[in-house]
Amino acid sequence: MAMTGVLRPGHAQLRVLNLEEGVHHYRDVMGMIETGRDAQGRVYLKCWDERDHHSLILREADSAGLDFFAFKVLDDATLDEQEAKLQAYGVATERMPAGDLLETGERVRFTLPSGHLIELYARKTAVGNGLQVENPAPWTKASENGIAPVRLDHCLLYGPNIAEVHKLFTEVLGFYLVERVLTPDGQGNVAIWLSCSHKVHDIAFVEHAEPGKLHHLSFLLESWEEVLRAGDIMAVNQVPVDIGPTRHGVTRGCTIYAWDPSGNRFETFMGGYQPYPDYEPTTWTFDGLGAGGGLDYVQRKLHETFLTVVS
Ligand SMILES: [Fe+2]
Repeated sequence: MAMTGVLRPGHAQLRVLNLEEGVHHYRDVMGMIETGRDAQGRVYLKCWDERDHHSLILREADSAGLDFFAFKVLDDATLDEQEAKLQAYGVATERMPAGDLLETGERVRFTLPSGHLIELYARKTAVGNGLQVENPAPWTKASENGIAPVRLDHCLLYGPNIAEVHKLFTEVLGFYLVERVLTPDGQGNVAIWLSCSHKVHDIAFVEHAEPGKLHHLSFLLESWEEVLRAGDIMAVNQVPVDIGPTRHGVTRGCTIYAWDPSGNRFETFMGGYQPYPDYEPTTWTFDGLGAGGGLDYVQRKLHETFLTVVS
């Protein structure tokens, strides 16, 4: 088996200002499936084609933003190994007990130099995607409910010290750099896209003075037609759209950025290419992010909101 170590994004816990407004957005407009509520009042949701119990947890709070973002690792031995590697690197870790999140085993959590809380875990109850394992149909009713993304795909986080974040993800967690944007003086990176898989990004960062900020959570669709359909569904439901539908030059993803009712940005997107760890990272100059079409290949400009609006 070639895929070991950190496998994929597993869940994000998102703060929303009004729980039922948030549930309405992610369950009824996005079309995710509600899979549980816990004693703390948190609501658990999954995309229709995800097999584990949840990928999104909503927590009502006074401010919007991201509590933590988690990755699933291969197995218990990998979790122990990753925890030891983090500690040897000088990162303080904490074990969250099994059951703290519904249907989820122990989680190892740690804080990045960017101020974000990241978790690793090996166990979460597999509830399936609603299709038979044997001779499955290619379609379920849930696959057309609302925007209906197939999975939580990645996140883009804003915070300081992304050079250190880059080192931690590549030297400890086994990620590799897929794309980057240079600082205006060309001496460092202002943005990095990192992968632990064959995906063009599993997590990304932009250098930003304020720590721990969320730029967006991203949900994967399977065609450009579905991205346009998502735009129709957003319009019908009066969801405020930020950018798109358009194509990113960075990653080549075809996208819409929009905001949930609490002001957390989310992305519905399709496409991108499939990199390998031995590829040379694609480099964008700072001007290339805007005029070069890195952010918006169709309009070829750096939208003000991309650099300024986070939660
Ligand atoms: Fe994205």
